[in-house]
Amino acid sequence: MASQRYDTVIIGAGVIGLATAFRVAQRGLTVAIADPEPGSGASRAAAGMLAPVSEAWYGEEELLGFGLTARERYPSFAAELTELTGVPTGYTQAGTLQVAYDSDDLAMLERVHELHLKLGLQARRVTAREARSIEPMLAPTVRGGVHVPADGSVDPRLLTRALLLAVARCGVAVHRQHVREVTLTAGGADGVALADGTRLAAASVVLATGWQAGEIAGVPPAALPPVRPVKGQILRLHSEQPILTGAVRGIVRGSSVYLVPRASGELVVGATQEELGADTRVTAGGVWELLRDARELVPGLTELELAEVTAGLRPGTPDNAPVLGPSALPGLVLATEHFRSGILLAPVTADLIAEFLDTKRLPRAAARFSPARFSAEPLAAEPLAAEPLAAAEPAAGEAPA
Ligand code: GLY
Repeated sequence: MASQRYDTVIIGAGVIGLATAFRVAQRGLTVAIADPEPGSGASRAAAGMLAPVSEAWYGEEELLGFGLTARERYPSFAAELTELTGVPTGYTQAGTLQVAYDSDDLAMLERVHELHLKLGLQARRVTAREARSIEPMLAPTVRGGVHVPADGSVDPRLLTRALLLAVARCGVAVHRQHVREVTLTAGGADGVALADGTRLAAASVVLATGWQAGEIAGVPPAALPPVRPVKGQILRLHSEQPILTGAVRGIVRGSSVYLVPRASGELVVGATQEELGADTRVTAGGVWELLRDARELVPGLTELELAEVTAGLRPGTPDNAPVLGPSALPGLVLATEHFRSGILLAPVTADLIAEFLDTKRLPRAAARFSPARFSAEPLAAEPLAAEPLAAAEPAAGEAPA
């Protein structure tokens, strides 16, 4: 069978794999990327919110910092792609308005805003009246909100289209096929075999397969990170004109819902969060919950055409953060498991992985997200001490600890 040789082979052509291929090829390395349907997974379902501040949560401060860096990089990343390909990405920095439906929801939003204030993030508490002056289509019952002016959004489907053209311009070979297995030598991964038997030999293999990164033929399971698919059902509505100026993220009776407008008149309403394994069925209940909550915030949306219902699978790790850098298998590099933030983190992930592949040094910003954090030896249970809990008298000659 045919064999081709590259510096890097990337498995998975969602936005993470494509952005990484783009940056690696720009450094002069030869790159191939393999995926039977580029952009068809989580990248196709995603709303494309670039909203690290309005998605900030307690205990995820490092992820937030990474997201802020990514948000800063988006304007130039999007502009560069459009300049190279002529394809717009739908990038806009129109802000996010977080709103609360009832007083309990407002209390929850105020807790999130305390975190904003504690971390010095740019976010402003607004009254209900101010919220409605920002978004006049909001229901008069909305209790109040928090405005995050620097958040933005991008259209992930346009972004994928632009990235596919960009990688082609940079000489990346796109193989629209399944990877049958990662091939190994005594020293580690040395390429992949495609479904038709073609072998792509490479010095480095990058795994960017999202929720499927927990298993790939040829790779010892211990070299792969833990991952669970988290289903998100998401709606696409349509009107002639956008009915919102920026994204609205609401808490409605304790549940979260977001609405992301596009200049085309598309309004994305998402998303459920369901731990059901690799299930991508769209359900009546999922659609009903999203429309029920979205309508409480923006009643006028019931007039819009319901153009599409999709379900995607977010790749979740135990700490909700991505897995970036060399794995325990030499030659295999991970750029995966971005959970709720794959679109946001694509440019920064691509830069870090390209730097690593080019220089063999992992930038410091990636250290926190190293695969090694999941490979620590499990703690052995200590046998319960037989002594009473009160401090024992030190034996003669023995110094107290
Ligand atoms: N970041 C949006 C979502 O995961 O639904």
